[in-house]
Amino acid sequence: MVSPAPHRTYDFVIAANRLPVDRQVKPDGTTTWRTSPGGLVTAMESVMRDREAAWVGWAGFPGEAPQPFDDGHLRLVPVGLSAEELTDYYEGFSNGTLWPLYHDVIVPPTFHRSWWNVYRTVNQRFADHVARVAAEGATVWVHDYQLQLVPAMLRDQRPDLRIGWFNHIPFPPVELFAQLPWRARILRGLLGADFVGFQRPDDARNFIRSCRAVLGATHKGDVVTWGGSDDGRSGAAPRSVRAAAVPISIDAQGFRDLADSPSVKARAQEIRESLGEPEVVLLGVDRLDYTKGIRHRLRAIGELLADGEISPPEVTFVQVATPSRERVEAYRTLREQIEGTVGRINGDFSHLGDTAVHYLHQSYPREEMAALFQVADVMLVTPLRDGMNLVAKEYVTARHDGGGALVLSEFTGAAEELKTAYLCNPHDIAGLKETILRAIRDDHEEKRRRMRSLRRQVRTYDVQVWAQDFLRALEVAPHRPPRSRRS
Ligand code: ADP
Ligand code: F6P
Repeated sequence: MVSPAPHRTYDFVIAANRLPVDRQVKPDGTTTWRTSPGGLVTAMESVMRDREAAWVGWAGFPGEAPQPFDDGHLRLVPVGLSAEELTDYYEGFSNGTLWPLYHDVIVPPTFHRSWWNVYRTVNQRFADHVARVAAEGATVWVHDYQLQLVPAMLRDQRPDLRIGWFNHIPFPPVELFAQLPWRARILRGLLGADFVGFQRPDDARNFIRSCRAVLGATHKGDVVTWGGSDDGRSGAAPRSVRAAAVPISIDAQGFRDLADSPSVKARAQEIRESLGEPEVVLLGVDRLDYTKGIRHRLRAIGELLADGEISPPEVTFVQVATPSRERVEAYRTLREQIEGTVGRINGDFSHLGDTAVHYLHQSYPREEMAALFQVADVMLVTPLRDGMNLVAKEYVTARHDGGGALVLSEFTGAAEELKTAYLCNPHDIAGLKETILRAIRDDHEEKRRRMRSLRRQVRTYDVQVWAQDFLRALEVAPHRPPRSRRS
């Protein structure tokens, strides 16, 4: 990273809640930058590697924003958020209201007017930053549920821009979305875009149905037409916005190369040895989030141990739970529950030297993740709801040796594409146990056949294809672009 460059504008601008890097303060008070958590950054980092663009986002700590700076081809433009704004906009409205509402109300969403007001203020600040760095006629790609008002706020100031929005998480059915007191404002915010992209066709349909039900918009196929303005005044010129599914993916070649590197292979061997060379390693890798189904997974594992179907040292389970949103009440409660359950399971079923569940509440470098994936004979991806789940795609890519088996929840975006995985309903504990056992016990040829087809799918539709599809759709919006490779 180099020091601030002179102010200039960009033809391509990304707006996301987080910058690709977070500033960390070390115990000795010095600061360092490290890759931000989550699937959005994993995907967009590789998409943006060789593109010249500005990226507007929060730098990961409260207080005044650092000066914009360059990181390779990218101009990083930090947006400052005070501690109070983080509480109300990020932990509050984004992760206490929208996140649970958009994930099937697995925990009840909280509605606070004060959170909503700060969400608006912060969205306006993001829009203002983008408006300042975007060149005349620039393309702006806005990301995720934290910034749903930005498209309309930006269009108000800069009608010359081409604005796209992509939702990394599910968009809920109208029956749930309609609970939101600010439902019309959110939809109006999104309709400021030219194209809105979703993970699954069902998400795009849910959005279109909400526009019809809440705003009285009309639609023809996947194009929504609406004649209001952001502040609800009628009589504005009607705008047409296309809404379609463009499922996100990973940098398949890059991840394969990483997994193939001698150091990652050596590390994988080291991990297997440190686990005591078990016959079967089961692995879960998730942000510690209630949407990820970690409790249900542990319940199934606990019962399989109690039934005597699996036991250490032959079978061991490794759960990596990345720290996430630790100041939000529901996340704190979940952590206590999970750690209590792991403790109970290990108390009942581990022996000296043979651990039933290895639990790691830490973030790791990508090399370590790739090594862990290579060690996993069965990968357990069992969310109750997940927009996509990139871990599933990373796993099948890392296992290019043909080994391994993927147990995958039907309630992930990934399940729409990864159809030869061992699909499961994580709410059905008996069914989940059976599926895990099948993934352990099926013969090698059956598992190799499944994994081959999963790898082919991820290789063909990788993150670059996703970005091309999104940007092509945005370029010609509201019309449908020529057919992409996947359709
Ligand atoms: P989400 O965006 O909800 O966090 P995804 O599965 O789509 O879920 O993406 C998670 C990303 O974070 C993946 O790239 C995964 O490899 C990475 N990741 C998950 N856990 C860790 C961890 N403990 N350390 C480092 N990276 C992690
Ligand atoms: O994919 C959903 C998402 O909220 C992304 O925006 C982000 O990459 C990830 O989860 C991590 O969440 P947070 O930014 O709240 O740590």
